[in-house]
Amino acid sequence: MAHSEEYLERYNLIDEATGKRFQATSLINPNSNRPNLTYEFGGHTRVWRWTRERMKAAEAAGEIYFPPRGGIPRQKRFLDEQEGVPVSDVWTDIPPLNSQAQERLGYPTQKPLALLERIIAASSNEGDVVLDPFCGCGTAVHAAEKLGRQWIGIDVTHLAIGLIEKRMTEAFPDIAFEVKGRPQSLSAAMDLAARDKHQFELWALSVVDAVPWKGGRKGADGGIDGIIWFKPDGKRTEKAIVEVKGGGTGVKDIGRLAQVMQREGAPLGVFITAQAPTRAMERDAASVGVWENELTGRKHPRLQILTLAEIFQNKRPDIPWVDASAVKKARREDTTKQGKLL
Ligand SMILES: C[S@@+](CC[C@H](N)C(=O)[O-])C[C@H]1O[C@@H](n2cnc3c(N)ncnc32)[C@H](O)[C@@H]1O
Repeated sequence: MAHSEEYLERYNLIDEATGKRFQATSLINPNSNRPNLTYEFGGHTRVWRWTRERMKAAEAAGEIYFPPRGGIPRQKRFLDEQEGVPVSDVWTDIPPLNSQAQERLGYPTQKPLALLERIIAASSNEGDVVLDPFCGCGTAVHAAEKLGRQWIGIDVTHLAIGLIEKRMTEAFPDIAFEVKGRPQSLSAAMDLAARDKHQFELWALSVVDAVPWKGGRKGADGGIDGIIWFKPDGKRTEKAIVEVKGGGTGVKDIGRLAQVMQREGAPLGVFITAQAPTRAMERDAASVGVWENELTGRKHPRLQILTLAEIFQNKRPDIPWVDASAVKKARREDTTKQGKLL
């Protein structure tokens, strides 16, 4: 383990010859009755810790510090020669993730990456396989990849697997890994919808890059299953409300989503349905109108219906994801309008 800040502050002197940081520690012997260690050195007669020969050798090696104005000589203890502190069985130097932590993914039991890195570094070698059979949002597999280990992560919920897929591709853009157990076909997704409504919902949300509402907990959702956050101008955050229906559906559901969008002040809504929508549903969705992104001038349907079949044809919601070049262009035009130089 690295030294604490408090420890490092003790190394407050710099050796002129080498530029190395050191602290000056006492050379005085705590025993007063040691005639063979009593001699004059540096203008002081004291009982020293070392024999005269050893003291002379240390002086020749530049290991003795002579304080200004004839102070008592001391030993130079160089920082780079001190070993780190062995890790104890109580770790207090890695703080838990706070609600504002950059690495926070919203998974309720998420652990700090630094913690898993220490555990993996201490208990495996590069190239070893790390298995986390309850991997949650994948902190252990992230640490394993970072430290050059192979890894296998297992979790029972699609919320975890969806998050890990996103997390790993964002952290390691060139990474290649295989995901097993996610619906790979329309019939597999239909089967999941019939078997487990909640897991189907979590899977569908992860496919459209939505964050499950209230961390994916079951229960009354107030008409919201998930949220897609986006920044249409690269600064302001907006949301699309996502509603997932694995079973029967009808116009009532569209009306309800429109109401929730209004209540939440959300410019967009996405309705994911296993069943194909009726004409009336499509009509009602279209009647919610379009939302124009001021930055790009593009119009996006406010209430979008996306079927499972379309998902497997790789269709995704029409979200104004922030486009760095559009933002740059708009800022440039804006600045030019104001007559300022870039
Ligand atoms: C404490 S969390 C893991 C947290 C993880 N270490 C992290 O930092 O994100 C435990 C995980 O076990 C998963 N789990 C529970 N029962 C399971 C089972 N039978 N098989 C696989 N995973 C399961 C849960 O979904 C949950 O994500």
